[in-house]
Amino acid sequence: MADIIDGKQISLDIKDEIKDKIAWLNKKGIEVSLAVILVGNDPASTVYVKNKKKACEYTGIKSVSYELAEETTEEELLSLIDKLNEDNAINGILVQLPLPKHINEDAVIKRISPDKDVDGFHPESVGRLSIGERGFVSCTPAGVIQLLKRSKVEITGAECVVVGRSNIVGKPMAMLLIRENGTVTVCHSKTKNLKEVTKRADILVVAIGKPEFIDSSYVKEGAVVIDVGIHRKGEKKLCGDVNYASVEPVASMITPVPGGVGPMTIAMLMNNCYEAALMQNGM
Ligand code: GUN
Repeated sequence: MADIIDGKQISLDIKDEIKDKIAWLNKKGIEVSLAVILVGNDPASTVYVKNKKKACEYTGIKSVSYELAEETTEEELLSLIDKLNEDNAINGILVQLPLPKHINEDAVIKRISPDKDVDGFHPESVGRLSIGERGFVSCTPAGVIQLLKRSKVEITGAECVVVGRSNIVGKPMAMLLIRENGTVTVCHSKTKNLKEVTKRADILVVAIGKPEFIDSSYVKEGAVVIDVGIHRKGEKKLCGDVNYASVEPVASMITPVPGGVGPMTIAMLMNNCYEAALMQNGM
């Protein structure tokens, strides 16, 4: 029987801590604000953006919303980003992904000022993370580190295996685990003998985007298993990249889906907004 890592509770604890920190900044006369840009009306993105704005309200961060039509041109979006980059009343800029196909996501990500890059996707943020400088860290992997630390999982010296090598999760996850003194292996779709590698893991982080792909045959007895995936399973149910029923009996700790990694992403976005305000005020 595994202990369940309660991401919902941990994310609430973090949001409460941030609420206090924002109130402390407010007392010094510093307001914190996030510009949230949504292009088009993808249903999942619309829900994510709504939840981000709700978390802003909870923590005392002002959210300024830009809901743009699907037909918005790349030039129009880039010029809005330029305007927000220049606006001293805006601390963070978030462009919800994915963008409509006619807009180049890389160009958009690079146009956001690295000082306001609260998603941590800009090449400068990625570079800072890789050389251990202060900067913005991609929210989902930062959330995984918080789940591990707050569940008292020892990362130093642990065999950490990350399955997935995306720019948003897998790669920054590996960098963060290295920073925490883990011994890190990154696996992906071309990895040979995947099971042999994942079975070495004391800490197994799964972000491959395949529903219930990892079953107990991939997991060492007593491993800590973190499931970053989220998929629809039938009408109402959700599932992750890990087959929970199969893995839970062999793991020592496991994140559920929903209520594991998911809520942490938004909590860490709030933390990045707080960090942005600190840095922009020379703190
Ligand atoms: N789409 C899916 N995840 C994310 C995220 O973390 N940030 C943004 N901006 N878009 C996303």
